[in-house]
Amino acid sequence: MSEIQDLTTPTTTSRRGFLAAGAGLATAATVGPMLWVPPASAGVRPQGVHVTYGADARRRMAVSWSTPASVKKPVLELGLGRDFGTRIAADSRSSKDVGTVYHHVDLTRLRPDTTYRYRLSHAGATAYEGSFRTAPSEPKAFRFAAFGDMGVNEAAAAHVALIAQQKPAFAFVVGDLCYADSSGGTGLGSADTQDFQVWDQWLQQIQPSAAKVPWMTTVGNHEMEAGNGELGYAGYLDRFSLPTNGVKDAPVTYSFVHGNVGFIALDGNDASTEINRNNGYVGATLDAWLVGRLTEMRERSDIDFIVAGFHNCMYCTNLVHGSDGGTRSRWEPIFDQFEVDLVVNGHNHCYERTHIMRGGVAVQEAPDGAVVDSSTGTTYLTAGGAGQAAYPTGGLPLSYVTVEGGLRIPEATTWSAVTYEDHSIAFLDVTPRDKQGIATMKLTARSTDGTVIDTVTMKRQRRSA
Ligand SMILES: [Fe+2]
Ligand SMILES: [Fe+2]
Repeated sequence: MSEIQDLTTPTTTSRRGFLAAGAGLATAATVGPMLWVPPASAGVRPQGVHVTYGADARRRMAVSWSTPASVKKPVLELGLGRDFGTRIAADSRSSKDVGTVYHHVDLTRLRPDTTYRYRLSHAGATAYEGSFRTAPSEPKAFRFAAFGDMGVNEAAAAHVALIAQQKPAFAFVVGDLCYADSSGGTGLGSADTQDFQVWDQWLQQIQPSAAKVPWMTTVGNHEMEAGNGELGYAGYLDRFSLPTNGVKDAPVTYSFVHGNVGFIALDGNDASTEINRNNGYVGATLDAWLVGRLTEMRERSDIDFIVAGFHNCMYCTNLVHGSDGGTRSRWEPIFDQFEVDLVVNGHNHCYERTHIMRGGVAVQEAPDGAVVDSSTGTTYLTAGGAGQAAYPTGGLPLSYVTVEGGLRIPEATTWSAVTYEDHSIAFLDVTPRDKQGIATMKLTARSTDGTVIDTVTMKRQRRSA
């Protein structure tokens, strides 16, 4: 068992050195501003608790929480069964325009497929106790949730309860998380459009699920907060401890593997031609990283499906945002080349699923209830109905795609398979290969009350060596 670190230690380097030498289990997060810790603030409780996979979902997990003000010696205790055998000091970060302090512990060398208990506390605090489970080392059946555009509202809270009830292994969340900056990345954010305390309301809202299963988030246009760093992501990065295996200059990108599925989190803002504030800030470097990561995943014999997530819709008929030509032109050829099975987007506050797409056209019909050969093409999913006011304005049979310069080009929407113009959450049930070598990933979309509104089953035959 290691000792509690003295958090008045002034540098990240010494903190990491302590952990490497003493704890043997964890390394502290290394990004975000460091915080000098004043005398103890007793009586404040850990809140906004959420967990996140590290780059190796089998062995790494971050636990994050917050306190309304600075506290002395924030610490995580970790254990198996009833005992907490390890104590690890948190890395604490302040953030723009809030007194809240965000605490993070990155855990390493965990056991795969194992439930850990954790306890969060600080000097004078009432401890918070929770648990999480690491990803398995061998493919086994699992469920994940996929959605975006949640906000803080009644529907969102109901969806958190639905997600908790459905017991996914984790959630893949495709941006527009809390809307602390309601200007949506237009660059016009001001005191009139920003309330960063909304982040804390949102983190508290998601805690019933996120304290137990990882919420793997990506950025949307509402995470481009005016005045919060060059890209606007500083507030987001203060609050999340993400896998650090993404593009060097785009710390919001990452990938991980759970069972027989590879997941890639992209930054749609880098490719969007509809909202171009951050367009091209990593550009070709991001695309090269994406190709490299997809190459690695397709070379692995234990990975069947690949799922990419980002905010801006590749294919959506909803008239509020339509489809984004920037994301299409950058990534569709890559998704085709590597047979990406599923792309999850948000942004349009509705539900929509395409037929199976290759080369910009539907190559396989996939109505509600269909069973499809996923190796023939990609399913594009808009899952932006997680709580923020729904967009009822569907665009069938004619929608538009926004291209370079913000030009809206009308287009026929023969690729659209299923639309639902209200709130929903998507759940994906994945099974490993059966005796015939066929793996399945079944999408089930549910409305707020849990009613099934759409299903499709993607199948993949094991590739010959
Ligand atoms: Fe949104
Ligand atoms: Fe959006």
